[in-house]
Amino acid sequence: MHNNTSLDGKVAIITGAGSGIGKASAHLFLSRGAKVVAADLKPESVEALSNEWPEFAENIRPFSVNVANKEQVEAMIDFAVEEFGKLDILFNNAGIMDGMVPLGKVDDSAWSLAFDVNVNGVMYAMRKAINYFLERGEGGVVVNTASVGGLNGGRAGAAYTASKHAVIGMTKAAAFEYAPQGIRCVALAPGGVVTNIGIGANADMDMYEQMKPGLALMRGGAAQPEQLAEAAAFLASDAASFVNGSVLTADGGWTSY
Ligand SMILES: NC(=O)c1ccc[n+]([C@@H]2O[C@H](COP(=O)([O-])OP(=O)(O)OC[C@H]3O[C@@H](n4cnc5c(N)ncnc54)[C@H](O)[C@@H]3O)[C@@H](O)[C@H]2O)c1
Repeated sequence: MHNNTSLDGKVAIITGAGSGIGKASAHLFLSRGAKVVAADLKPESVEALSNEWPEFAENIRPFSVNVANKEQVEAMIDFAVEEFGKLDILFNNAGIMDGMVPLGKVDDSAWSLAFDVNVNGVMYAMRKAINYFLERGEGGVVVNTASVGGLNGGRAGAAYTASKHAVIGMTKAAAFEYAPQGIRCVALAPGGVVTNIGIGANADMDMYEQMKPGLALMRGGAAQPEQLAEAAAFLASDAASFVNGSVLTADGGWTSY
């Protein structure tokens, strides 16, 4: 019987694949039969993966990318097609936090950095991949890692919150625009996940203190990255064939209150 959650024969790019949700997703996508371009700002983190997972070495290609750099992002899409002959799934997962800085204290460079990485990086990759999908004429899937901070305030600082709202906006816009061509665009909205992201080096602890009552609502505690990988793999698979423009919260119930 055909299992629709299988990713057998699919080619996927995963950004931020060197750590956390992206790394767990790379492993799960590979174990479901996908070929994966594992892209990250830290090349050593993705170059290590084929040694770590020798059973998948043939199906994984590391790629060094700063998603804030348009040329590098476009080269990443070309690389997947050159290496594996096609691209089926783009998982824009790389992202950075903003130190929990409230709007009145945000500085211009921190604002720009959050948007360069979390928003522009996603747009550059979506634009190039969507044009490739259109040219190929066989559809395609974009999964974007947003956040519960893309749906609600009080989960991060203003820059991160605004950037993840933009990710959801881009996802919905493109989902509607390209549904007729069989291109699905969906977002994943994690709550707290145990990864290396942290709250940022110079986190604004005043803001963090203000958030604490909200954090207490995270009654399910923080997730493991593997739990988010399961949600991402579902969204990327044919099992989600009619899921388009949706935001899947995977937050243990945090935003249900
Ligand atoms: N951890 C959480 O609690 C949480 C909650 C909601 C959303 N998210 C989102 O999940 C995604 C993955 O984060 P994570 O928690 O796994 O964090 P992580 O820090 O463990 O992993 C993120 C990876 O992205 C890479 N990266 C950072 N900037 C990059 C850039 N400019 N170009 C390419 N790669 C870059 C990092 O090197 C790292 O390997 C992010 O988009 C984050 O905003 C995380």
